[in-house]
Amino acid sequence: MSIEEKIEQLRKMREQARLGGGKERIERQHAKGKLTARERIEKLLDPGSFRELDMFVTHRATSFGIEKQKYLGDSVVTGWGTINGRLVYVFSQDFTVFGGSLSEVHAEKVCKIMDLAMKNGAPVIGLNDSGGARIQEGVVSLAGYAYIFLRNVLASGVIPQISAILGPCAGGAVYSPAMTDFILMTKETSHMFITGPEVIKAVTREEVTFEELGGAMTHASKSGVAHFAAENEEHCLALIRQLLSYIPQNNLEDPPFVPTADPEDRMDEELKTIIPDSPTQPYDMKEVIRHVVDEGTFLEVHEHWAQNIVVGFARLGGYSVGIVANQPMVLAGVLDIDASRKAARFVRFCDAFNIPLITFVDVPGFLPGVDQEHNGIILNGAKLLWAFCEATVPKITVITRKAYGGAYDVMSSKHIRGDISYAWPTAEIAVMGPEGAVNIVFRKQIAAAEDPEAERARLVQEYREQFANPYVAAARGYIDDVIEPQETRPRLIEALKMLQNKRDANPPKKHGNIPL
Ligand code: HXC
Repeated sequence: MSIEEKIEQLRKMREQARLGGGKERIERQHAKGKLTARERIEKLLDPGSFRELDMFVTHRATSFGIEKQKYLGDSVVTGWGTINGRLVYVFSQDFTVFGGSLSEVHAEKVCKIMDLAMKNGAPVIGLNDSGGARIQEGVVSLAGYAYIFLRNVLASGVIPQISAILGPCAGGAVYSPAMTDFILMTKETSHMFITGPEVIKAVTREEVTFEELGGAMTHASKSGVAHFAAENEEHCLALIRQLLSYIPQNNLEDPPFVPTADPEDRMDEELKTIIPDSPTQPYDMKEVIRHVVDEGTFLEVHEHWAQNIVVGFARLGGYSVGIVANQPMVLAGVLDIDASRKAARFVRFCDAFNIPLITFVDVPGFLPGVDQEHNGIILNGAKLLWAFCEATVPKITVITRKAYGGAYDVMSSKHIRGDISYAWPTAEIAVMGPEGAVNIVFRKQIAAAEDPEAERARLVQEYREQFANPYVAAARGYIDDVIEPQETRPRLIEALKMLQNKRDANPPKKHGNIPL
């Protein structure tokens, strides 16, 4: 063969590899409203940046006649490319080849790019669409999953790992995404579960649809497994690009700085009007966040789950920050099991990747209830406390209104290494709200009074004046300053800059024993 003929042969092989399982299966994929593995990569990465690896790899199995059916590249497309000019590694499962099922070589290809990502300090993005273990390969496939699981764990906290679920993801296969930092699912076309509707029906007689059991909104609002529920695949891939813009390449780097046209010294008079005069009236903490951060930069994580706490990424004066905020609009912003788990996981991610934490506090305490107690609010609440205690990134807190009881300590207080704590003049920092406190401390005095209700009201008022304000805490230096709401943005940016070179560390140890 001449060199020209050899080049022609190579090109033909590449063309064949690009067809995956063939035109018919590609059409079937499109008919389901799904893109192919390669189309997804094209949409995810900067145009022309993808460099594929292992395009000529084929499976080595010999059982059940599978040896007669081979596809170049097997059931996953892997390689590297860039997103907004920054290096990322990608694997994209190809459903048109044996349903994207995981063979020995599929696992090897994924492990290869994970190893490269670890050595070179860049994120791994997995685009999942797979029928699970390659049935014809048996235990070899299970071993392949385990090699990936191990790498997920070793890479955790070193490089960011992002999983998009764009089709089926069932059985033990769910555990690789579960051990990554973020899971994004597409509505209607993606499903995650350990056992599917048919097995559930046979075992427990419960009847449930795929979507109800493990669809995007189920995991985004009920289980908390999914951090984002995307409208469709394009939206999902765009979200990944957006998410990465707030995150560094690895744990030794800082997140990207993105200059903003929003002035650093912008005062915001509207912040004065967001908090209602009555301390029992709700308001939307997301409004506060949006008014403070660089315009249009708030990317909420877990928007639909545990909505009594808000977490997400934003920028302040161009610096990437993680926001944690109680949400008075939902359950009065109380901390419960799910809210604690949600915020704890977010805080730990930010701390692992050098993203400073800004905490907005308006919290009446932990949620009372038998259900909460029996499901472990003690251990789960402790997760959030733990996460804030452990975090060594810059931590700035703004108490907008209530900071009661244990929840005051938990919400990144000064006492657990918060760097700067500000309070608005509307802050109420106390062991509990005036009504609760008065009912406990003055029960006998109220009962003995001539007019118990008048006495209660008088005592509540007295308590409010004495304790339900920021000045008792400020007098002790627990609050560094009481600031006017409209100056929140400039004050936060100044503090953030002041903390740019913060150094803090935890004692050397193998690892702590977080109450899981
Ligand atoms: C080999 C598979 C496969 C698998 C699908 N295919 N799953 N091949 N191993 N696990 C093949 C099909 O034979 C078919 O081949 C093609 O992929 C598309 O599958 P369809 O069934 O036609 O597609 P669809 O109707 O969309 O259904 C998708 C599906 C279904 C829901 C994923 O295929 C399915 O239930 N598959 C089996 C799932 C499963 O039980 N997997 C093992 C679970 S145990 P042709 O040639 O017709 O295109 C597991 C353990 C992981 O995963 C353990 C980790 C520790």
